[in-house]
Amino acid sequence: MRRQLVTGGAGFIGSNYVRHVLAHTDDAVTVLDALTYAGNEASLAGLPPERMRLVRGSITDAALVDSLVADADVVVHFAAESHNDNSLADPSPFVQTNLVGTYTLLEAVRRHGTRYHHISTDEVYGDLDLDDPARFTEATPYNPSSPYSATKAGSDLLVRAWVRSFGVRATISNCSNNYGPYQHVEKFIPRQITNVIDGVRPRLYGAGLNVRDWIHVDDHNAAVLAILERGRIGETYLIGADGEKNNREVIELILTLMGHPADAYDHVTDRPGHDLRYAIDSTKLRTELGWTPRYTSFADGLADTIDWYRGHESWWRPMKAATESKYARTGQ
Ligand code: NAD
Ligand code: TYD
Repeated sequence: MRRQLVTGGAGFIGSNYVRHVLAHTDDAVTVLDALTYAGNEASLAGLPPERMRLVRGSITDAALVDSLVADADVVVHFAAESHNDNSLADPSPFVQTNLVGTYTLLEAVRRHGTRYHHISTDEVYGDLDLDDPARFTEATPYNPSSPYSATKAGSDLLVRAWVRSFGVRATISNCSNNYGPYQHVEKFIPRQITNVIDGVRPRLYGAGLNVRDWIHVDDHNAAVLAILERGRIGETYLIGADGEKNNREVIELILTLMGHPADAYDHVTDRPGHDLRYAIDSTKLRTELGWTPRYTSFADGLADTIDWYRGHESWWRPMKAATESKYARTGQ
């Protein structure tokens, strides 16, 4: 039985990944998660204790990381400070977790010779113009905009250096914006769904023409598993499902699917330095590893996600008021 150490496994993508691994492999999983404001034990509720255990701790704790890596066959690293708006208010935990935490993991996998997969974002490439036909590829130069994306870019570069300098057996994936169950209500889609449930008008930053390339979290995680099993060591794979939509289209679809007029939203203060457009060319992943997305209709995936938030109010309700009071400070 392969033993996976999954960092950040109590967060949005990590908890979906743990479920995916338990459903599709015979692996056992140890989750290492600090349970920050973004981590939630409830996201792992009901999983079999003989195949999944949760260790509460930080990826910056070198002794703890070393002991867990010593017992693992592979490490899949999701843990991060993940929200751009928070990184504008206080970059410090982003530097600690995303840079120092990744460094701590890399030193441990280097000592133990452990296979390592690094989860990253397309935001390391900066943004594209709205009318630019180009999409990001593995060859696009790094050009991050925010403290969040800069620390993710730095962590990717650490991985590349540890592969080249020390022979660490690592792969990297850079994925576009995820949606699906268990996503924190600070993020765009769950924030607006839960606002509508609460009778609050959704809030669009600026004109809302910014484009994101949406992918369902299960499609992301299927790609991660494919890279872990068949990816070439030292390689980077971009993960995307051809899901480009501007924010206005997304908000209008949420409102329509939830039975409200499509224009029942408000424009609020724009995010400083707001990236215009992300778009992924995932040809390498598709041709080399045979991956294709299962969620081909964004409207269907979004409808499932709305149903999930409607059915899991006890999961998101405890985070909602604190999240909205943070946003109130910036008028967003
Ligand atoms: P999330 O904020 O929902 O979860 C992050 C998890 O990491 C939480 O459970 C948190 O408690 C944990 N964590 C934070 N600091 C930690 C520390 N010091 N030690 C241990 N655990 C810690 O984030 P997410 O959206 O699930 O993102 C997961 C990963 O995927 C991140 O690396 C992110 O950069 C990347 N990513 C996210 C997206 C997206 O759309 N959400 C897209 C591409 C890549
Ligand atoms: P977000 O979910 O924060 O992801 P990212 O910053 O990683 O792309 O935001 C997605 C898009 O939605 C982004 O362009 C900012 C915008 N947005 C809003 O318009 N309103 C909101 O309330 C939030 C949280 C985001």
